[in-house]
Amino acid sequence: MFTTDRIVQIFLEFFRERGHELIPGESLVPPPGDPVLFTTSGMHPLTPYLMGRPHPSGRRLVGLQRCLRTTDLDEVGDDTHLTVFEMLGSWSLGDYRGPQSLRWGYELLRDGFGLDPSRMHVTVFGGDEQVGPDHDSWQTWTDLGVPIEPTTDDNWWSNGPTGLCGPDSEIFVWSGPETPRGTPTTDDRWVEVWNHVMMRYHRHPDGTLEPLPQPNIDTGMGLERLVSILQGVESIYETDLFEPWRSTLPRLWPGLDDSSRNLVIDHLRSVVVLLGDRITPSPNGRGYVLRRLIRRVLTTLWRNDPTGTLSDLPTDLIEHTLDHFGQLGSPDEIRTALRDEERRFGQLLERGRQLLSRSRFSGTLTDDDYHYLHDTHGLPRDLIHYLTTETQH
Ligand code: ALA
Repeated sequence: MFTTDRIVQIFLEFFRERGHELIPGESLVPPPGDPVLFTTSGMHPLTPYLMGRPHPSGRRLVGLQRCLRTTDLDEVGDDTHLTVFEMLGSWSLGDYRGPQSLRWGYELLRDGFGLDPSRMHVTVFGGDEQVGPDHDSWQTWTDLGVPIEPTTDDNWWSNGPTGLCGPDSEIFVWSGPETPRGTPTTDDRWVEVWNHVMMRYHRHPDGTLEPLPQPNIDTGMGLERLVSILQGVESIYETDLFEPWRSTLPRLWPGLDDSSRNLVIDHLRSVVVLLGDRITPSPNGRGYVLRRLIRRVLTTLWRNDPTGTLSDLPTDLIEHTLDHFGQLGSPDEIRTALRDEERRFGQLLERGRQLLSRSRFSGTLTDDDYHYLHDTHGLPRDLIHYLTTETQH
């Protein structure tokens, strides 16, 4: 079986053998001047170099980068979404072009990871009013004999409304037990594993596209998803990466259903990584994302058992996560931060309970009530819902 460590090693080695320098993973906090709150893709730390500044390690790079995405927060708990995840990436800074990147991608998946090419499908940019179809990628995949589906929006990658962007080609792998059928847009058993972006443009605020001084390649492959495919499990939580969490949690907090258990694992692991990157809970910005994650863990635990506490989180789980992400943070500091935040949240809830027991709030709450509770007492809407449904149990 491919362990996660082995998969990472095979990926990095493959590209190093092809002249790529290994770059170290950076923190979740993007470089100064970057408008994004968190690193959401492997390319973030490379933005200035994709824009044309020479990189000290050369024009071919490879690495593994931790990322955080909050857009999927409501989907966390299912089998495939994570808040903090890792992305394997390879980059050509004005060096080789798209066809070479796609050929290597195909070779690595087939020969390095043993994936059956008859279970692969790709998508290619079909063109829009500003940029023509991606003929080069189409030709490459045709030569390799992989079925192609053209799309427009799904095959355009951008780092935001403005900035770096370009057409991309995505490699999908069939995840079902039966013979592959349909296409990536018609059957969701086609799982996207690897995105190859032809990062050639800079979008200006007025929507115009300016070609970059150098055409780049930016590829990204979600590590956990790849691992679950190669380990033949349906859920990322069933992979070796999550084994210590999966085996510890039911003993620690028994009675959680699968999706609550997944949510608690995902959020707590993300919280450890955020604290390990020296982010602290606060009422806004990055610290607020951290605070919300901790509070979601606590409400999930307390719905199941009001006596649950994060003080029970074992040090070795924290250490395991810090080690995995190469972070130096101290498990004791992390436990203290969790305990402080739990206490603060407990006090907020207690205040909320007292307020909501006033006769003024005994009926259906109006918008004015919500505003008052939020603005004067710091109780957001979702917590008010939590407290009002709590009393119904
Ligand atoms: N930057 C590309 C992505 O995140 C590779 O999908």
